[in-house]
Amino acid sequence: MCACGLVWCTCALLATLLASFGLIMVPGIEQAAARLVFTHLSGRSLSIAGNVITARHFTYCLGDYLGCVKDEAARDMVNLFMWETGIGEFVPFSPNQLMNGDGVLPLHFSHAAYREVAYDLLAGRPPDMMVFSNKTSLPAGVMPDFEPDILLNLDTGSEEHTNRRKLLADMLPALAKDRSSGDEHFRVPTGVEASAAVISGATMGGLKRKVFDTVGYNLFDWLFEVNVENELAELFEYDGILAPLVLGIPAMSFQGRRMAKIRMTAFDKVTHSRVGKAFMRAADDRGMDGQKRLSEMVWIAMFAGYGGTGNLAFETIKRILTDPAKYTALFRSDPEAFMLEAARLHPPVAGMNPMAYRKDTYHKLATGKTMKVEAGQIGVTFSSAANKDPQVFRDPYNFVPGRENAERLLSWNNEWGDFSRCDTVAGCPEAPRGCPGTFLSMRLVTATVDFFVGGIEGGLPLKQEL
Ligand code: HEM
Ligand SMILES: *[C@@H]1O[C@H](CO)[C@@H](O)[C@H](O)[C@H]1NC(C)=O
Repeated sequence: MCACGLVWCTCALLATLLASFGLIMVPGIEQAAARLVFTHLSGRSLSIAGNVITARHFTYCLGDYLGCVKDEAARDMVNLFMWETGIGEFVPFSPNQLMNGDGVLPLHFSHAAYREVAYDLLAGRPPDMMVFSNKTSLPAGVMPDFEPDILLNLDTGSEEHTNRRKLLADMLPALAKDRSSGDEHFRVPTGVEASAAVISGATMGGLKRKVFDTVGYNLFDWLFEVNVENELAELFEYDGILAPLVLGIPAMSFQGRRMAKIRMTAFDKVTHSRVGKAFMRAADDRGMDGQKRLSEMVWIAMFAGYGGTGNLAFETIKRILTDPAKYTALFRSDPEAFMLEAARLHPPVAGMNPMAYRKDTYHKLATGKTMKVEAGQIGVTFSSAANKDPQVFRDPYNFVPGRENAERLLSWNNEWGDFSRCDTVAGCPEAPRGCPGTFLSMRLVTATVDFFVGGIEGGLPLKQEL
């Protein structure tokens, strides 16, 4: 009798929970729930309730993070916190952040609020975060081999940050804004074909691999003059291990060992290249440690360089495949404008590494709350939101190459238009913290998409002769 009651009770409780979870599947009800949660809760309870809402998005979207969860979360954010205010509360769902960090973080999501941090000449950075993973919880091998503090961890404008960026700008010619075509030959690795038959027959996973191989092969050639044709499978494997860690999913020690091993093969090749040797020598001459600096650069190339450029190329090709006739024609009419617009709508790097507040700050939020952030606490920025701010981009979801304010996208952290005014990628007052790989990744992604577009065009019905 007693046991029966208990079972009944548990069942009823579970059923209620499931039913309310089911109810928040309905978009209108979910929005009302989110409003209640973010208006009235704070601290731990907000963190828990916020994660229930995130779990709802994952369920509703059948796990499609990039294609759906992000949009669902963005809609909530804008409804609650408003573009005009631009700052809101973000409940991180990374296990790592839940276990070690703050359960609620300030989020800069409007274009203006993102710029406020990305253009701050004295913006702080926490030494211990690699995106959503706290570095203290990562197994050995994930971060660069000789020194876990990377550029992303250094305050904007600090001497160390400036010196390291200057080294990249001076010693890696591929990062320059303009390169004569003789210096960069786009080549397709063995085994990659883009014929119409191959593209239409490939699974999305198979296509992704082809795109990433093409990007990785040319990236290492252009940047370091190194041939990684035999390492392409390993680079892909590496990216697959790293991607969840960036989101704060805990890593196993064997994964760290595997990453270190793969990275060591690439690093070894780079240290023996002409570019690599000159880079290390220059670093040593400047009182830095050449080996550490080069190892950091290889680490970043395998992260933002390979993954960022690869994902942008892949997402763009996926978009093209949704309406091949329309998009291939648009691409052909102005490849750079096309790729800028693709980078605005599909930013492959979600934003900056978390920032660190350097003084106590009070944010007045559109929900009526005032959020206090103490000096030292971290905050986040999302370029995927800032790039769709209707205050800057009219009808932000429409794909319009050459649109008004096209160059104001923040996918490379500072505006493309501002960065284009700098002499070198070392950083300039107009764009103090733009991605140093901006121009390289743009040339590379354009060449890669161009190649696959050729294959897609091959499968289109022949154009009517004029
Ligand atoms: C489409 C591809 C890429 C995108 C969207 C991208 C985006 C970004 C963003 C948003 C940041 C700012 C991170 C922060 O400040 O915390 C960044 C930083 C950086 N990126 Fe890229 N990146 C891409 C490709 C590359 C490539 C090809 C390289 C070089 C090989 C590169 C090298 C770097 C470096 C060194 C930093 C650190 C800069 C600093 O902290 O001052 N990126 N990138
Ligand atoms: C990272 O983890 C360490 C050790 O648990 C902790 O002291 C530190 O505050 C964490 N950093 C952040 C930014 O959450």
